This record gives sequence, C-alpha cells and structure tokens, in this order.
Amino acid sequence: MGYKPLCFGLTCILFAYYIYTPMPENIEEPWKVRIMDAAIKTASLMATILEKTGIKRFDELFSIIIKLDYTQPISDENVTVMDTTFSDIPVRLYLPKRKRESQRPAVIFIHGGAFVLGSYKQTPLDLLNRWTANKLDAVVVGVDLAPQYPFPVPYEDVVSVVKFFLQDKILAKYGVDPNRICISGDSSGGTLAAGVAQLVSCISYISVEC
Ligand SMILES: *[C@@H]1O[C@H](CO)[C@@H](O)[C@H](O)[C@H]1NC(C)=O
Repeated sequence: MGYKPLCFGLTCILFAYYIYTPMPENIEEPWKVRIMDAAIKTASLMATILEKTGIKRFDELFSIIIKLDYTQPISDENVTVMDTTFSDIPVRLYLPKRKRESQRPAVIFIHGGAFVLGSYKQTPLDLLNRWTANKLDAVVVGVDLAPQYPFPVPYEDVVSVVKFFLQDKILAKYGVDPNRICISGDSSGGTLAAGVAQLVSCISYISVEC
C-alpha cells in the first residue's frame, strides 16, 4: 500500500475519533445532535488551525458562519416583527397581533455567544422569540450586542436597552404591564440577564444555560 492512501486513511480514522461523541440513549433524534456536534467540532478545529497559522482569529470564522444564518424581521400571522434601536442599540421587537384589552407581559431576550459572537438575527433565536411572543401573548425584545467590543460593553448595552424600555412612555407605547417584565437569555446572555436583573432588582429573570 502506498504512503499517501495510508496517511489519508489514518487521517480519516483520527478525524472520526476526534468528532465522535458518546450519546445518552434517551436523546430524541441522536443523529441530528451527532451531526451538529461534528459540525461544531470541525469548525472549532478549522478555527484553531486558522488562528495558529495567524490567518484569522478563532472567533472570526464562527462570526462568518453565524452570519450565514441571519434572518430578516419578517412578520407572520400572529406576530409583527420589526428591527429598531433602543438607546442606539439594535433590538428586534415581536409584537403579538391578537386583540387584548389588558396590558401585555414583556420578555427581554439576550442572545448568547460567549460575549464575542451571535445576534438575535440567528434563525433559532428568531424562532424562539417568535414562539415566546405567540405562546405568552407577550411583547418580546431581542437585544443585539456588539461582539466587536469586549466586556463590559455588552453588559452596558443591555443596561441601556433595559433602562430605555422601562420608561413609562415606552412601556405605554407597546402596551406593556410594568409589573410583568422578565429578562432572559441563553448562555452568556443568561449571565447578562442575571447581572441586569440584579441591577434593576424589581424585575425577575430567567437564565437558560446551554
Ligand atoms: C399562529 O398561532 C396559532 C395558534 O397558536 C398557531 O397554530 C400557528 O402555528 C401560528 N402561526 C405561526 C406562523 O407561528
């Protein structure tokens, strides 16, 4: 056997070993999880190689991949969706279309991404915010952080958005009940949610870890 096929075979085996993850048996759709896990590991490996060779920073490759998954603010039959800014910070609003006599609750959602990545525009977060608005008949505010600025800028941005939203005239504009506002987030967004909720301790928070 030639040297090249042997190297290729060995590389394939090492790569398969690298991307293999043992899976608990009770997981629904284990293949989907395996494929996603393999894709993330492969991207991490590529990002590491790019960083070690000085071509790109680790997070830059992930930024490019994530941007491929950005959505536009598209309204559907239940929710009006729009991009705007609160205190110069980009936000995406999900406003339920259903008629309602009383004021609505509101959910502020902060995206994750290790403080350096991500956006409310990503498909899964757009679906989640839409689902929340529809299911809870709540106004949802997705906050965009500016990943190019290091911590504590993300925290300061979230504080600005929350303070802007909590103004009486803004809550009245969107028909929000000031006593039923929650702050949530996934991953690093959960950390920011916890931090901001402590600052404005009159409101409760949920943090989702992933
Ligand atoms: C709109 O709401 C109804 C009732 O909750 C649901 O069955 C339907 O799937 C929703 N439409 C969209 C596009 O989410």
